[in-house]
Amino acid sequence: MTATAQPGKKKQVRDMFDGIARRYDFLNGFLSLGTDRRWRRKAVRQLEKTRPARIIDIATGTGDLALELLRLRPSRIVGVDISARMLEIGKQKIVKAGVQEVITLQEGDSEQLDFADMSFDAATVAFGVRNFENVNKGLSEMARVLKPGGQAVILEFAQPERFPVRQLYNFYFNRVLPFLGRVISGNPHAYSYLPRSVGEFPYGDGFLEIMRHAGFSDTKYISLSFGIAAIYTGIRN
Ligand SMILES: C[S@@+](CC[C@H](N)C(=O)[O-])C[C@H]1O[C@@H](n2cnc3c(N)ncnc32)[C@H](O)[C@@H]1O
Repeated sequence: MTATAQPGKKKQVRDMFDGIARRYDFLNGFLSLGTDRRWRRKAVRQLEKTRPARIIDIATGTGDLALELLRLRPSRIVGVDISARMLEIGKQKIVKAGVQEVITLQEGDSEQLDFADMSFDAATVAFGVRNFENVNKGLSEMARVLKPGGQAVILEFAQPERFPVRQLYNFYFNRVLPFLGRVISGNPHAYSYLPRSVGEFPYGDGFLEIMRHAGFSDTKYISLSFGIAAIYTGIRN
């Protein structure tokens, strides 16, 4: 399976995240009832055994996963994102936490990473791959900047398949969340984009196939919260 490229999506996505950046952290916690933090923590735990020294967090946004990665005590974490506004909020959080020596956030595109081949021991993405204009290219770039044997950890929404979780999830995701998101973020599109983008995106085995195609082996996934999200892992060939 391959994910099709969607020309023009990058600018729309950047503008959308620039627009909601100030309320993004609040909305994340509020709309997921804090579950997003638990999921990020679990994603970080996937790297506990190997304790990577240099980590790239792609589509880092306001830096929540980058900050969570500090638990692994790496020497360096670089977060990249196309939204300058999301990064601004992230930088404030990093200064507040006093961890500027370890974490650097910079503007950058997942599909054209500004790093040499084999620069990192691990690469992470939380709720980012679904937003890429060209997922295959993003994952190939991820593989390129990883050392052979380096680990990729990707956290993304999935789609629960079982009754009644599927029905409850669809109601919340398609009705409640776009309404609350619209009222709170002031952006009429951002939170209707969310269910749409999840609905269109491959998950489970379909996503693992895309990872293998991009240069990863030993690919696996863990389902989270009855299939609402998943953590995908792979090793760079
Ligand atoms: C839902 S947010 C996730 C942010 C963060 N990782 C988190 O866990 O909260 C998705 C992020 O992906 C970024 N993004 C989308 N396409 C990108 C691309 N091509 N390159 C880099 N970042 C991208 C957006 O700007 C946005 O900040």
